[in-house]
Amino acid sequence: MQKTPHAMILGTGRAVPEKILTNADLERIVDTSDDWIVARTGIRQRHVAAPGSALSDLATEAARNALQNAGVGAEEIDLIILGTVTGDMKFPATACLVQEKLGAKNAVAFDLSAACSGFLYGLQIAEGMMASSGYRRVLVLGAEVLTSMVNWQDRDTCVLFGDGAGAAVLGPSDGGRGLLQTYLRSDGAHSNLLYNPGCGSVNPPTAENVAARLHTIHMEGKEVFRHAVTSMTEALKLVLEREGLRGEDLDLLIPHQANLRIIEAVVKRCKMPMEKVYVNVDRYGNTSAASIPIALDELRRSGDLRPGALVGVVTFGAGFTWAAGLIRI
Ligand code: UT7
Repeated sequence: MQKTPHAMILGTGRAVPEKILTNADLERIVDTSDDWIVARTGIRQRHVAAPGSALSDLATEAARNALQNAGVGAEEIDLIILGTVTGDMKFPATACLVQEKLGAKNAVAFDLSAACSGFLYGLQIAEGMMASSGYRRVLVLGAEVLTSMVNWQDRDTCVLFGDGAGAAVLGPSDGGRGLLQTYLRSDGAHSNLLYNPGCGSVNPPTAENVAARLHTIHMEGKEVFRHAVTSMTEALKLVLEREGLRGEDLDLLIPHQANLRIIEAVVKRCKMPMEKVYVNVDRYGNTSAASIPIALDELRRSGDLRPGALVGVVTFGAGFTWAAGLIRI
């Protein structure tokens, strides 16, 4: 089922906090080792925001870079979609704070909660709203300060995550370039394998709940790993099939950067060479919704992703949510 793209990427941007936490730094905090982290995840370092940092500042910096890259003014933006699970506050939507900081006064702005799938969900929603409601300049962001909800005493999870923001400005497709395919899935049956049980209506942030660290990330890593490999493989194969393509036809694959072993397992099942797969998990760790737009921006700015290139994107996260897409850059 081939489809004509409605939206294409006009520009991208990213921002990460300056401070870097290496595996050696983590060795001083929990019972772990650089060898274990590198062998099991591929992660060597992650950027971490100072405690109390505003996600909206990081997201705004990424957005400004994307607007500049696209040659689009803030007042031209008519829709802002921010994929995040670590907004500045429970409400209002952090997208509204980004709107204010940017001066994007003509935009409709809202947050999107789909964990690591936030950016790809955002792309499809943006394209749908452009097609149905006439929005012409849309800012899609994936941004997280995941370290704000990390339990630094839990070595199973604290070594995995990092902070960052990525942004893309979308405009109407020129007919050939843009979002060729997107495929979104969810399965709430496994919501308790990766979640933050505190801070919500079930476990509000009372002194007892905070002392029990309910406001931090809880994960059954092995189970999540298994589901991630199966679901990402299924999703990527499906979008390729819809265009009559195979893995080797892609110029590049940008997978969600959670764990190098997950990426390698998916790539093997999709019969792609690793040389065509972008990996930066070693430098950033898992930045959830930000991982794909950060990678996209790195690639576009380095010149490794030229206009016309065919890129696959695929992700998996809490919910569970997962998604894949094909983008003609
Ligand atoms: O963004 C999408 C969502 N998240 C993910 O995709 C993450 C998915 N899961 C994973 O990436 C992997 O499951 C982990 C990296 C979290 C864990 O790797 P694993 O190969 O599944 O290890 P494991 O949990 O089975 O643990 C193996 C051993 C255990 O020790 P024993 O029981 O064998 O003695 C753990 O206690 O490794 C131990 N371990 C550690 N050792 C040193 C767990 N964490 C650490 C650590 N340092 N940080």
